[in-house]
Amino acid sequence: MKHLIAPSVLSADFANLQRDTEMLNASKADWIHVDVMDGVFVPNISFGFPVMEAIKKHARKPLDVHLMIVNPDQYIERFAAAGAAVITVHYEACVHLHRTVQAIHAAGCKAAVALNPHTPVALLKDILVDLDMVLIMSVNPGFGGQQFIPNTLNKIAELRAMADQVKPELLIEVDGGVGLHNLGQLIAAGADVFVAGNAVFAAQDQLQMISDMKEFDQHLSKL
Ligand code: DX5
Ligand code: ZN
Repeated sequence: MKHLIAPSVLSADFANLQRDTEMLNASKADWIHVDVMDGVFVPNISFGFPVMEAIKKHARKPLDVHLMIVNPDQYIERFAAAGAAVITVHYEACVHLHRTVQAIHAAGCKAAVALNPHTPVALLKDILVDLDMVLIMSVNPGFGGQQFIPNTLNKIAELRAMADQVKPELLIEVDGGVGLHNLGQLIAAGADVFVAGNAVFAAQDQLQMISDMKEFDQHLSKL
């Protein structure tokens, strides 16, 4: 399968969300990554339902909603109603993870679990078969524009080997410090979905950057 690109609107211009969402509609992006932070699970507050609904109003691509919040169970139905196609909860925030995953599916969404940089992939062994995707955090969650943590590559390779045994179609998403400089290594390690905030929105030509990331193989051959 060709890899997917999910630009993160955390790095968009919040005063021009319609413009930036339309740029993503016109781009080669596959999904739109929506980072929800509550100021408790992570040391930052991003946005909640009103902003997500405003994005949804204009978005013509699936919303990939990354919940960096405590007690996500309380809000799953509301995020589904607000237009989420994929809902990702953090392993570290869910005491009854299996029940949470069931609730995401019951709400009609794809279910994913995110792991912080310190959380071993082996902990997902008994839930992997129930998941559509695993999100490997390649920075500590909370902020855009941070530096990629290299051990992420080992985690992706280990998870891909685990998934090949029980759930070969599992998607592996990487989030944090992703750009053209490490995309090749991440694809080789076995990742499928690439979140990019700063790499896309700080680029001179955002459409071109998304295209370069999507057509990475062709991009390489041009160098
Ligand atoms: C970080 C968020 C990321 C963030 C990535 O906590 O989960 O999705 O937007 O931003 P970059 O690509 O700038 O590291
Ligand atoms: Zn994210």
